[in-house]
Amino acid sequence: MKNHCILILDFGSQYTHLIARKIREIGVNAKIYPYHTSDIKSIMPNGIILSGGPFSVYENNPPLISRSIFKLNIPILGICYGMQVLAFMFGGKISPSKYKEYGKTNFFIKNEVNDNLLFHGIPNKSIVWMSHCDEIKQIPTNFKIIGYTNYSSISAYCYLEKHIYALQFHPEVTHTKFGKLIIKNFVLKICKCVTQLKSNKFFTQFIKTTINNIKKTTKNKNVILGLSGGIDSCVTAYLLHKSIGDHLYCIFVDTGLLMEYETKKIILSCQQININIKIIDAKKRFLSILNGVSDPEQKRKLIGKEFLDIFQEEAKKIQNVGFIAQGTIYSDMIESSIDPKLTQNMNHFMIKSHHNVGGMPKVDIDFKLIEPLKMLFKDEVKKIGEKLGISKEIVYRHPFPGPGLSIRIIGEVNQQKIDIIKKAESILIHELKKYNIYQHVDQAFIILLPIKSVGVMGDKRTYEYTAVLRAINTEDFMTSTFAYLPYDFLETISNRIINEVEGINRIVYDITSKPPSTIEWE
Ligand code: XMP
Repeated sequence: MKNHCILILDFGSQYTHLIARKIREIGVNAKIYPYHTSDIKSIMPNGIILSGGPFSVYENNPPLISRSIFKLNIPILGICYGMQVLAFMFGGKISPSKYKEYGKTNFFIKNEVNDNLLFHGIPNKSIVWMSHCDEIKQIPTNFKIIGYTNYSSISAYCYLEKHIYALQFHPEVTHTKFGKLIIKNFVLKICKCVTQLKSNKFFTQFIKTTINNIKKTTKNKNVILGLSGGIDSCVTAYLLHKSIGDHLYCIFVDTGLLMEYETKKIILSCQQININIKIIDAKKRFLSILNGVSDPEQKRKLIGKEFLDIFQEEAKKIQNVGFIAQGTIYSDMIESSIDPKLTQNMNHFMIKSHHNVGGMPKVDIDFKLIEPLKMLFKDEVKKIGEKLGISKEIVYRHPFPGPGLSIRIIGEVNQQKIDIIKKAESILIHELKKYNIYQHVDQAFIILLPIKSVGVMGDKRTYEYTAVLRAINTEDFMTSTFAYLPYDFLETISNRIINEVEGINRIVYDITSKPPSTIEWE
């Protein structure tokens, strides 16, 4: 008896939840369990996927799966570290890669294995997304290589008799061109799952259930919500407002680290959804706590704590507050290493403390947290925003990080640098809209480096800051590519910023993907 579901054994990959999401989009249920789960029979999956992870199998005591799983005759797909685990457990050799592969890579299928259903319908050459620094040097006996890249001769293998398949690249990320089809082939053709879920109903159902759950959880207590004006906090506000009406108190903290005219925009967006909002001017407080701090994590933590202090102070002024709501989404949690599905003894290697998650200090607060969007990705939140009738202007606004401009000013933050970056960002956004590019990139912003360089303006020597233009394309903000911006646009941006913003005399364009970089610089 099979449950027509896929079991994902999690080794702590950034992308584990994306695997589950891709499978659910196909219409099949996916369950995520810790890698050491051995009682597979009670779950009765049609197939098992081993996720990637930040480990190396040649280290002491590497995390592995239970050998009993191989006796069950259930198809297995290993991804990245999962691929190395399978090869290692069957006697293969794995070592650090001579050439590390991060981001976009050309993948070639080796057509020597007949009946390889995994690559059914996939062209012999395609773009895949890699993120690994170990490679398989020798595959075990009976395993067949089914794919390679220019840098690695073993990028995919299978052991057909045992229904084992493995990929070094990540089929679950949107940038792997045929990734979804590969997962679909595994789930439907190899594991023979029958589709059940109706994904188009998911969002309507999500809204209904969330509104009911909030009502049940909060009873008649008041809820305060830190509204930033971005899509995540707006959708959260909308859901709360629909659920508890006047019990919702929105607080907007003006940290002074926001983009120009942000406060006005926030008031406008609240008016659109009839929500009362209190605006707190905390510019001096934030500038003072950041004084002399240049470490990115310290900045994030200090800002998180200050936000919390302000919320606590405000909550005391309102009676009967039982909850603080936040617009946390799933990628915030993954990158802050707070995935609730992971076991205690293994965790994602922390990347950065997203301010509303890892950035928040672990102190006793008098209120419980409500985070209705915490299992969703950004594009899913946008779909919910649309369904809730939130204006396109808000839904399609580029995301803006909680710690604001402080993490776009590399190193120490001061008022002069804040003023410089604000002016530069507002020119960028204005020109993006004028050139009709804004809606074709998913996020674009300026980063101010602490580096000065020599320039010449009006025959005079200048020695000013260097700014970086970052513009990316992504679906879920877990992986991204840099946007192919037209040269004439780049030229306009460079001219306008350098001519109009005192303090910047050089602009460079960031052409890195995620991975290996992240979207923000800190
Ligand atoms: P990274 O830099 O982690 O960014 O690749 C992924 C997305 O998350 C945004 N970001 C944040 N959003 N609080 C937020 O609400 C944060 O602390 C934070 N840090 C990064 C980033 O702008 C990008 O859209």
